[in-house]
Amino acid sequence: MTPLDDNNESILARARQIMVENDRGGYTVPTAGLYPYQWNWDSAFAVLGFACFDRERAWLEIDTLLEGQWDDGMVPHIIFRRDDPDYFPGPTVWAAGHNPPSTGISQPPVLASVVRYLVDTGDATDRDKAIARFPKLFAWHQWFHAFRDRDGNGVIGVVHPWESGRDNCPDWDGGMRGVNVANDLGEYHRRDTGHIDASERPTQSEYDRYLTIVKFGREHGWDQNELVHNGPFFVADPGMQFILMRADRDLRELAISFGENTAAAKLDSWIELAMQGCDALWNPEVNCYCARDLKTGEFSDGITNAGMLAFYAGAGDRRQQEQLFEHADAILARVEFGFPSWDPRHPAFEAKRYWRGPVWLMMNYMIADGFANYGRDDLASRLRDDSQRLVDNYDFFEYFDPLTGTGCGGGDFTWTAAIRLVWQ
Ligand code: DGY
Repeated sequence: MTPLDDNNESILARARQIMVENDRGGYTVPTAGLYPYQWNWDSAFAVLGFACFDRERAWLEIDTLLEGQWDDGMVPHIIFRRDDPDYFPGPTVWAAGHNPPSTGISQPPVLASVVRYLVDTGDATDRDKAIARFPKLFAWHQWFHAFRDRDGNGVIGVVHPWESGRDNCPDWDGGMRGVNVANDLGEYHRRDTGHIDASERPTQSEYDRYLTIVKFGREHGWDQNELVHNGPFFVADPGMQFILMRADRDLRELAISFGENTAAAKLDSWIELAMQGCDALWNPEVNCYCARDLKTGEFSDGITNAGMLAFYAGAGDRRQQEQLFEHADAILARVEFGFPSWDPRHPAFEAKRYWRGPVWLMMNYMIADGFANYGRDDLASRLRDDSQRLVDNYDFFEYFDPLTGTGCGGGDFTWTAAIRLVWQ
């Protein structure tokens, strides 16, 4: 082994150790302290990491996540298995009345794509396991199309910035301005800023609005129709749109291979509708897919890493794809590490504040897959190399400053370790 191989092996060993240490007995926390529960898309990415060294454990992560599924098919954004004073807002604030306790919203459904990955890279055991879990995955996708495509036109909205997983991205600034902070919200004590410097987290005004939306959901018994039609926030999200589209495509491949013909036909029709729906997210002012407030029709005006998931989803026509690549080239020329969550040329860019600029490795993983599918292996390699350099030089942080590489947010982070492993 060369010293370089040696170094790589010790980084991979550390990644495996982080995953094992974040294991709470069948499910993984994103990081100790800051996020002490099971988060939906964090868990899905954890599966990719576990699959590199312990496939049994990878499947267990899927099963514990699906244990949280509601009767209507929704897989919630957080599953609270035990009350933990380190986190706010916990299960009593959500009061979603479910067992195991959970929040009342969902998160980007990367799970079907991860299951397809396990089938494609695995053996007959993986296939059998995927067949057994197929109905649950399909039910979750059905829930998205029934409850997040409000107008039945293939445009997927989120009822809370937390549902998007990109909490404080400027994408939500317009929608958040429309949320009137409840005047009986009362005093509450944020825990996140006890763990992480406040300059790397959402602002107090954002938290007031996050909690106002939670209050609305709680007071309406987490009735999803009520949230979508009359809730304080409903914004079309390119991240959710594209991740669901890709997951529908992956689930469709599984359905065909498993002989689930009715499900495959349904998935086909969802994909077709979503292809049309994407056009509503194309902002002609900036020539990119942007978030759009579904209450006012107003667009967000910045280029995000979520918009770059168009390639991952197989969305857009040739002209749109060329324009997206032009943006990608221009943005990557501006930063030391790609892909920033918000355009560094835009005044709302903040290099260290969570989703207002920093780089996230699991986003890079999906974006790079899309870039490679459209023949831009150069950009895919750039993101892979940048991701590797970030971890190797700045450690396993939750997110990173795209200009300097400085690690931000939580340390020893599960999905950062998982992506380092899968991209080893
Ligand atoms: C948080 O608490 O910061 C989470 O992102 C909510 O999902």
